[in-house]
Amino acid sequence: MQKGYKMQEIIKAVQDIAIKISEVLKYGDLGYATSSNATGDTQLKLDILSDEIIENRLKELKCVSSIISEEKESPLLIDKDGEYIIAYDPLDGSSLVDVNFAVGSIFGIYKGALDAKNLVAAIYTVYGPRVELVVCQDDVRLFRLDRAGEFKFIKTLELKEKGKLNATGGTQKGWSDSHRSMIKSLFDDGYRLRYSGAMVSDLHQVLLKGGGLFSYPATPDAPNGKLRLAFEVLPFAYIYEKAGGATTNGVNSSLLDIKIEQTHQTTPCYFGSKFEIDRVRNG
Ligand code: AHG
Ligand code: MN
Ligand code: MN
Repeated sequence: MQKGYKMQEIIKAVQDIAIKISEVLKYGDLGYATSSNATGDTQLKLDILSDEIIENRLKELKCVSSIISEEKESPLLIDKDGEYIIAYDPLDGSSLVDVNFAVGSIFGIYKGALDAKNLVAAIYTVYGPRVELVVCQDDVRLFRLDRAGEFKFIKTLELKEKGKLNATGGTQKGWSDSHRSMIKSLFDDGYRLRYSGAMVSDLHQVLLKGGGLFSYPATPDAPNGKLRLAFEVLPFAYIYEKAGGATTNGVNSSLLDIKIEQTHQTTPCYFGSKFEIDRVRNG
């Protein structure tokens, strides 16, 4: 499917994980756990279960040195001789499971130290009416689970120069004037609003529909944005840039330029086609 024996093992593990998580999402308990995670979010039983499914499967891989999870306070050592760190969001958009919206899992695969420059692959899954997997190494490939339990290659994904969708997050009353006017200018140009509240599904939609903008800016209630660098923002930045799009934190030339200083560090983030990201950067 993709190059490299060890990477094949990781991709196979993520496929197994996706099938298991999609099963627990269908029939598992939708209730809250009594705990909260490192970011202070109240955890659902499904957040914890998804994290356990991923941890247990990734522990089987000799090539994994450690794992970093949204649901774990600190990194977990797997094999000191392993070469890959896998940072993941076990269940993205989990606040939407009660309304039965599509959610997903996100994986960033770093070779060596935890640094954006060391990202060698990013993978995400979408649990919607169908289970889908997007694998990005050199290009971005969409796979869909079939009746026989196999992920079938569907197509390579590429962003156009300019799109039509505007997926815009964050508390609107806290938007800066420049963010507000940039978002309005896109709507004035005919862009259509698409935002569910699960970044996996929202970014998946923008990617599959050829382009547009997904944004989660800084606001007074989230001065560094909400989305987390190591396991949400960087994996998607890697995917969007490999798909021919662009990313920024609002001012820099790429989200991939940001240094990871803390496991649960957040950043304002913008992902899109080149045209919209130029517009963000130029105000
Ligand atoms: P998670 O469910 O992993 O905590 O992530 C939720 C994130 C992301 O998926 C989404 O884009 C964002 O939170 C939605 O936040 P708002 O409700 O503030 O729009
Ligand atoms: Mn998330
Ligand atoms: Mn999550």
